[in-house]
Amino acid sequence: MQPQTDVVERTTDEALERLKAVSDLDGLEEWRVSTLGRNGALTQILRSLGSVPKEERPRLGAAANRAKTVLEQHLAEREQELKTAHLADVVERESIDVTLPGWPVPQGRLHPTTRMLRETTSVFASMGFQVEEGPEIELDRYNFDLLNIPKDHPARDMWDTLWIDRVDEQGNRPMLLRTHTSPMQARIMEKTSPPVRVVVPGKCYRYEATDATHEWHFHQVEGLAVDKGITFADLKGTLYEFARRTFGEDRQIRFRCDFFPFVEPGVDMSISNFKDPKTGKRPINRDEDWIEILGAGMVHPSVLEGVGYDPSVYTGFAFGMGVERIAMLKYGIDDIRLFYSNDVRFLQQV
Ligand code: DAH
Repeated sequence: MQPQTDVVERTTDEALERLKAVSDLDGLEEWRVSTLGRNGALTQILRSLGSVPKEERPRLGAAANRAKTVLEQHLAEREQELKTAHLADVVERESIDVTLPGWPVPQGRLHPTTRMLRETTSVFASMGFQVEEGPEIELDRYNFDLLNIPKDHPARDMWDTLWIDRVDEQGNRPMLLRTHTSPMQARIMEKTSPPVRVVVPGKCYRYEATDATHEWHFHQVEGLAVDKGITFADLKGTLYEFARRTFGEDRQIRFRCDFFPFVEPGVDMSISNFKDPKTGKRPINRDEDWIEILGAGMVHPSVLEGVGYDPSVYTGFAFGMGVERIAMLKYGIDDIRLFYSNDVRFLQQV
């Protein structure tokens, strides 16, 4: 029956015509459903084969099956084409222009205090001092008692203390935030026998109002050397060497008598801050010729006794310095509060 084979041909031609107009994968899926899908044009023909006179069935069936194969082939080809085009489009749109300049990635750096701490400890390490750290929450016994500062003694007024809501192991004396790194002197001597040569970098706290030269938290480096025959000359030599390495040859150093309960004699050491004769400027913008950077002295016999060292056999020297103050002096920073203000303009300079 001629007309029915015509229908197959017409349906096929029409479908191929529509296929040409399909421009994307969604459109292709629509085309597939409407042509080869369950209710698609060709499927309808194949389904209606049952109602065709028997002798016509083989021819029509064969024609419809050929048409199906042809359409499926075209579908596969078109699908491949569209996929390739789609991929090319994605590659084109999402490609990276490697010649464009990159975004700058901000770089972190060490805090000026950290740098100063490391520099300072490495100067002493090169002179044979070991480096040790200790607890920031401290017992009254180490922060004061063993440093020859008994309870209720007026010398305690030198350190405005932050006490905390925690008590020692015996449960009767409140603990504190260490006011200096000196408690480590006693802790170290208690657990080692002489000779001792150690520096202790660390954070300290004081119950203080802040201003350009005072912070309620800051860092110190403590030093301690104990052995037979250690003299004040050893102390001076060590600190001169430190100052020379840290500030250079042209800054001057001054020792003056000072009082600290855990040393006898006690001194403080200052670094010169003279006006430059040419520019009239000082290394640090403060109207002072000398700036104090540390306290030091010969370890008090009572301190040695307290930790079980025999003061008639051993002598030693100790020192404690303010790390931020040294950084201020070295880099010409005139306000200690900058170290904790977290202003990146300040932090990025070092
Ligand atoms: N610990 C003292 C302070 O914070 C500084 C100090 C002075 C430390 C004399 C010492 C020393 O070791 O011998 O003010």
